[in-house]
Amino acid sequence: MQLAIENVTKRYKKGVVALCGFSLDLQPGVLGLLGPNGAGKTTLMSILATITRATEGRVLWNRTDIAREPDVLRSVLGYLPQDFGVYPNLTAAEFLQYLAAVKGLDAATAARRIDELLELVNLTEARKRPLGGFSGGMKQRVGIAQALLNDPELLIVDEPTAGLDPEERVRFRNLLSDLSGERIVILSTHIVSDVEATATDIALIAKGTLVAHATPEALLQQVEGKVWEWVVSSADLTQAKQQYLISSTTRRSDGVHARVLGDEPPAGAQPVAPNLEDAYLFCLSEHRAGVPA
Ligand SMILES: Nc1ncnc2c1ncn2[C@@H]1O[C@H](COP(=O)(O)OP(=O)(O)OP(=O)(O)O)[C@@H](O)[C@H]1O
Ligand SMILES: [Mg+2]
Repeated sequence: MQLAIENVTKRYKKGVVALCGFSLDLQPGVLGLLGPNGAGKTTLMSILATITRATEGRVLWNRTDIAREPDVLRSVLGYLPQDFGVYPNLTAAEFLQYLAAVKGLDAATAARRIDELLELVNLTEARKRPLGGFSGGMKQRVGIAQALLNDPELLIVDEPTAGLDPEERVRFRNLLSDLSGERIVILSTHIVSDVEATATDIALIAKGTLVAHATPEALLQQVEGKVWEWVVSSADLTQAKQQYLISSTTRRSDGVHARVLGDEPPAGAQPVAPNLEDAYLFCLSEHRAGVPA
């Protein structure tokens, strides 16, 4: 099982370049696709899902070009788009039955699979309720259930945790880790903590280019010895932010504890162990420094 993205460029009308010579090789595991708004995550995912065509370059699924023979991939693909819409008048079970039929599952297999999936996404009790009355988190869970109907080999989920409350988020992350195994899962987000627990690999994307592709451990190693905790007064914080790259701040009784990223610490700052958020911001800022805007 192998997905090869080779030198993909996507140019939209009016000259917007959403992806620029993007290459990435993927094996089974969970890839966290991390990048700021407008980085090109959705564009990349919709090309992989054979919804959008690349302007240049190609994508190979087990050596088959997905633009030439999309059905080879489509039959083993599960996709939860960023703007996933549901039919408000259908119940959760009816909606899944409808999509199972579209995907070509026979009625008996579909019925069994829908029961399993509703259980997996914790919606068994809500199965007979119309989707129009579902919360954002419940709709996302229906979305993931539909993406899993055909037990996909490639599962693509675009910002699945947007709009979820903290409890739903945790449940969703656990669900995704349970799904990994003999499949390639690609999960896009701009929230680092979403991929911290689940991703076996991280791809950082900014302005349509690949900034880094590494394991979480390797990304952390890149910022080892470059993260400092510095206590500043609230009054000095604004100036500190102008002077240093700060990944996060926490207010405590003795002042604001800021995590500063850089080779040299501010006076009085103490070294601390890096986290993925630090690594993400550091890589993006290095990339910005090296690439003219
Ligand atoms: N259909 C389109 N036509 C023109 N430009 C587009 C279209 N879709 C996306 N873009 C542009 O391409 C760039 C990448 O957008 P994309 O939606 O892929 O980013 P993203 O990383 O998914 O962002 P977000 O985190 O906001 O979802 C942006 O500059 C966006 O404005
Ligand atoms: Mg997007």
